Amino acid sequence: MNLKEKDFFLHKNQYAISNNKEGEVFKRSSSNIALIKYWGKKTNTLQIPLNSSISFSLEKVFTGTKLRYHVKTPPYKKNFSVKFFFFGKKKFIFWKKILVFFYRISSYCSYLRDYHFTIETYNNFPHSSGIASSASFMSSLALCIMEMEKQLVPSLTHSFFLKKASFLARLGSGSACRSVYPGLVVWGNHKSIIGSNNLYAIPYPYKIHSIFQNLIDTILIIDETPKKILSTQGHQLMNTHPYAKERFKCANKNMDCMISILEMGDFQEFGKLIEHEALTLHAMIMTSNPYFLWMKPNTVQIIHMVWDLRIQSKKNVYFTLDAGANIHLLYPMNERLFIGKWIKHDLMFYCKKIIESICF
Ligand code: PMV
Repeated sequence: MNLKEKDFFLHKNQYAISNNKEGEVFKRSSSNIALIKYWGKKTNTLQIPLNSSISFSLEKVFTGTKLRYHVKTPPYKKNFSVKFFFFGKKKFIFWKKILVFFYRISSYCSYLRDYHFTIETYNNFPHSSGIASSASFMSSLALCIMEMEKQLVPSLTHSFFLKKASFLARLGSGSACRSVYPGLVVWGNHKSIIGSNNLYAIPYPYKIHSIFQNLIDTILIIDETPKKILSTQGHQLMNTHPYAKERFKCANKNMDCMISILEMGDFQEFGKLIEHEALTLHAMIMTSNPYFLWMKPNTVQIIHMVWDLRIQSKKNVYFTLDAGANIHLLYPMNERLFIGKWIKHDLMFYCKKIIESICF
């Protein structure tokens, strides 16, 4: 049964602070790469997507977050009390984002104003590598908050725990709601996917062919500079985009194609679909007003090299892109040796860094 927004409110009369005066929790969340992309959200709402999306969580690319809390002693000020450290150092920009996040989730977690918090976080991937860490960070923080909530409300079920963690993570950053789960994860209402909804993500509920188990995702870092256009701005541009309607229709159709591909195990069709999705996402930003180009010359160079390799070797290697210049190469585990060598010999020259992960 799908939960509604009202199911996530927790009011003061539903818990006793005396049950949980202080504590420390730690959670890890993986980054994720979307196969069918979320791009565009409803106006005047908080992260309600305009199309459904599906992603793989990336096992070796994660954020770890520790949340320490102790109850304020009354009479206390009703504002949030948060200290934040990223790799042991204060980070003002992230701290501000956390306050916005706390504010957004405070009606669902009414206890947040009653505690002092210290949040310490780190990524296992290089900082400023161009990999978005907001999804893994917001997901790990939402899981920490739910762990704390569980101390206040011990009757809370595991299924509710994960749904609410995903619901909260979504309010931090849309795609973060998918990072709560491993494997293939769906977010956004889609008529063919039972349980899919706009409020929180769910594990992909249908049959997955064994060829998609333990796929490798090698992330080719081409540009390490921070993004000039943030995804928040990019999503907004879809509200006035001349091709937006067609894009949303196409994304939903692609989702249907993905369901049958995942069942049948046709890797070539899978690859063509993810490349089409990646290029469509980039086409959207290129045709926005104002327009923008995320790709760098080396992104285009590598895309052509991937296509050439496929023609020459018939290997199953395909790319996808996020909102930036970096490339994700997806291929089955049994191609690892061949593709690994090719990346080292032929692609390394065009990349700043390479990170290998497993879609789990
Ligand atoms: O979660 P956001 O608001 O950063 O948006 C993410 C959008 C893409 O990464 C481009 C696509 C996706 O579905 O992850």
